[in-house]
Amino acid sequence: MINQPIILNGFMGVGKTTIAKKLARSLNYDFIDIDDEIINAFNLPVTEIFRQYGEAKFREKETELIKLYSNRQSTVISLGGGAFKNLDNRQACLDNGIVIHLDLSYKEWQKRIPELISTRPILQNKTDQAIKELYEARQSIYHHRDLHIMTDNLSKKEVTEHIINKLKMYDQKKS
Ligand code: S3P
Repeated sequence: MINQPIILNGFMGVGKTTIAKKLARSLNYDFIDIDDEIINAFNLPVTEIFRQYGEAKFREKETELIKLYSNRQSTVISLGGGAFKNLDNRQACLDNGIVIHLDLSYKEWQKRIPELISTRPILQNKTDQAIKELYEARQSIYHHRDLHIMTDNLSKKEVTEHIINKLKMYDQKKS
């Protein structure tokens, strides 16, 4: 079907990487995780990149890699949750790929905070209220999308199936 890259976006910890891997396997597409590519480029975990080089350097590399990969065919790409803060990143993804917003309500998402905090510098040293405000502030950037999937109460398998169905409908509508 679709020959554009399929790009998964959404807040930290909603399951972008896991679902992107499953989706790639189902569609027989390649899989690229932009965070992993950044980690490989610096040869450091994200928290260390932020600590040693600062967020700006992380974002520079993120933009460089999105530019490189966002028009790659037969590929599922998982973005970092902050990628769409940058207009060029957003434009490159929307122009070249099918952007899917994986959404999760705050009520469900907040249950995941304990398992996310050690690897997500953006969440560290913030009060619960500040984290909630970040979640809310970020929602507007995720509205730049082609497809929206609400993942509350769905298994990973169901989310993947849901995406494949939506992609089929999206493809039919376009042709
Ligand atoms: C970030 C999200 C992270 C990672 C970095 C910054 C953000 O990716 O890119 O920690 O600003 O939302 P995930 O969304 O994969 O956790």
